[in-house]
Amino acid sequence: MSEYNFEGQRQFRVLGLSGSASKNSYNTDLLKAIGKMLPSNITFELFEGLANLPFYTPEIDNDQDRPVIAQALRDAIRNADAIIIATPEYNYSVTAVIKNAIDWASRPYGAHSLVRKAILPVSASMSILGGVRAQLHLRDILHSTESNVITRPEVFVSTAHTKFNEDHELIDQETINILKLAVDSFVAHAELLA
Ligand SMILES: Cc1cc2nc3c(=O)[nH]c(=O)nc-3n(C[C@H](O)[C@H](O)[C@H](O)COP(=O)(O)O)c2cc1C
Repeated sequence: MSEYNFEGQRQFRVLGLSGSASKNSYNTDLLKAIGKMLPSNITFELFEGLANLPFYTPEIDNDQDRPVIAQALRDAIRNADAIIIATPEYNYSVTAVIKNAIDWASRPYGAHSLVRKAILPVSASMSILGGVRAQLHLRDILHSTESNVITRPEVFVSTAHTKFNEDHELIDQETINILKLAVDSFVAHAELLA
């Protein structure tokens, strides 16, 4: 059931998933920057510690043995109206962290909560391509989960080391402008599905 605030706007929950295990991650910084741009009726939560998720193993995916963090991930996805996934590019693809998180989230087969979920994929890289190859792979993977992945705008932050300051804040105005457009489109896309 939908919740509304005093202005009659629908309250909306967005979950951020970062595919980086690094403490100084441009992708995590990017998610945080997007989180700060979201309108006030949208709450943003960054899922902490995704890199600590054990590798998906069918034998431990049961109520007795499932790692607490794996269940927490599934619950966070189920409770979110929409998800933003930020992936670094490792060897032309997504990181193992992101693939493993999607593997956990994609079970139980036929009853998982990535189905129909609105998802905005984003990527940041120090290269001039901004992680485009990883992001295309991410979009392919999310085909299998039947998620509602937004097609446009596509958000690639290239030469990321020039766009954040030492305090991990996004300082590049052109990138900020693109992100604002992306956020508006994504919110509209997610609200249609909610
Ligand atoms: C194993 C490894 C492979 C990488 N492969 C690519 C690549 O294929 N394309 C690319 O643009 N950057 C590549 N990079 C650079 C990462 O994109 C860069 O380190 C980026 O900052 C990682 O994202 P993060 O800051 O969010 O952790 C690679 C880095 C590592 C450690």
